[in-house]
Amino acid sequence: MRIDIITGLPALLDSFLNQSILKRAQDKGIVEIVIHDIRNYTTDKHRQIDDYAFGGGAGMVLMIEPIAACIRKLQAERKYDDIIYMTPDGETFNQKTANRLSLHQNLIILCGHYKGVDERIRQIFVTREISIGDYVLSGGELAAAVVSDAIIRLIPGVLSDETSALTDSFQDNLLAPPVYTRPADFEGIKVPEVLLSGHEKKIEEWRYEQSLERTRQRRPDLLGE
Ligand code: 6GU
Repeated sequence: MRIDIITGLPALLDSFLNQSILKRAQDKGIVEIVIHDIRNYTTDKHRQIDDYAFGGGAGMVLMIEPIAACIRKLQAERKYDDIIYMTPDGETFNQKTANRLSLHQNLIILCGHYKGVDERIRQIFVTREISIGDYVLSGGELAAAVVSDAIIRLIPGVLSDETSALTDSFQDNLLAPPVYTRPADFEGIKVPEVLLSGHEKKIEEWRYEQSLERTRQRRPDLLGE
């Protein structure tokens, strides 16, 4: 998979994407993440990427021309499955969307900033709009990092134990069960006996029950779906 992220603040994404699991996925050649600085697609002397909103009002709007130039350059190089715009008024991101996007070959993720992007960018180029929740961030960069992480960890070969993504919370609309490691007794609080039993079937049943109970308690809305 290849993900091209278009942003006015590349530094915000650099460190995040070059750490840990995402770094390993790139080193293994499973995913290629390329960050594009909108400023590099400007043609004026001041390298301006945003301007005042027509009609007035507070906040700057990302201009269409540099972003269009960047997207068109990328589209000339390969075909994209989706051009995603990160915006609080997009469809709320969830595990189902992550699963779906993880099957794609090439994605563009456009980060909004300031008051957003010129509406015509959405009209002409964007095929999908994603929000990561009902709150407002200063820009789409953190949201793009969240979405990239959620997608990439689902690609086979990225996680060392491939089954581990399958047992994540939400993968089956259930929250994950509790987990324990050594010591089996910490200050009198013991690990549930069944986990020490070696009885695989019973352990599986226990985990399922715990998942169900935890979901009932914390997220009954998930059971209704
Ligand atoms: Cl995608 N962008 C911004 N700026 N704020 C958000 C968001 C995105 N998702 C939730 N809040």
